Amino acid sequence: MFSSDYEGKEKIEERLKETQKVFGYVFDRFTILNIYKLFTDNTIGRFEFPIASGKESLVFAASKNNKFFAVKIYKTVASTFKNIERYAGQRWGIDNTRNKRKFIMQWAHREFRNLSEAVGAGVIAPVPVKVVGNVLVMQYIGTKRKPAPLMKDCIITREIVADTLKSVRMLYTKAGLVHGDLSEYNFLVHRKKPYMIDIAQAVETDDAMARVLIERDIGIMTRFFNKFEYKLDKDKVLSYIRGESNVFR
Ligand SMILES: Nc1ncnc2c1ncn2[C@@H]1O[C@H](COP(=O)(O)OP(=O)(O)OP(=O)(O)O)[C@@H](O)[C@H]1O
Ligand SMILES: [Mg+2]
Repeated sequence: MFSSDYEGKEKIEERLKETQKVFGYVFDRFTILNIYKLFTDNTIGRFEFPIASGKESLVFAASKNNKFFAVKIYKTVASTFKNIERYAGQRWGIDNTRNKRKFIMQWAHREFRNLSEAVGAGVIAPVPVKVVGNVLVMQYIGTKRKPAPLMKDCIITREIVADTLKSVRMLYTKAGLVHGDLSEYNFLVHRKKPYMIDIAQAVETDDAMARVLIERDIGIMTRFFNKFEYKLDKDKVLSYIRGESNVFR
């Protein structure tokens, strides 16, 4: 892909044009400029490899001086807004293209802010680094050869269960947030630790939807863990998460 590590500005301009030829099919100019800013402000030096391509975003591994980062690019074109409509569409209204772009930018900023609050509260999650428009840079979870696997593809030990529930409890009691889309698809397991990801849609614990969302989140997680015969009781886990009890079993 492209790199700014050892190149002059003219060369970069040339490459930006080149990049636009390639990425232009996927990204609009707004997105390409935001990516470009991350090169010129030295946040990243080069793209390493693509990690995932979802409905709402593309995630790449990038690096700077051999240090890896994850770059999540929210799609401004061809996005279905499935999640966004589900959580906030009615509240915020996203009926035209300009609003959509603005909305997507807010979404990226929201993910940045929620990640900062989560990490600050002791949740195991990628440390956010920078957000420019619809592009979010965060700590990369994985090795230089490949990204960490999703929790759904891992063998779940007692420690992983305990660390996961502790993170969700910290998110609730210390950051005052409910993730709202928890599942074995939104945790990465790296060096035996569960990293919570995909947190843009999180709502505050006093939000009208919070109660429904936390119950659903915990229902999904206990059902998944119980496939490994942990026999967790959803209500006990819920009081642990809310800080009403200090044990989840
Ligand atoms: N910090 C990270 N380090 C390594 N890989 C990551 C990181 N963040 C996300 N990923 C990978 O990118 C994928 C998509 O990320 P995320 O779930 O945040 O985006 P999404 O657009 O909401 O995707 P989906 O719709 O599939 O949930 C994840 O499943 C994971 O494999
Ligand atoms: Mg996800």
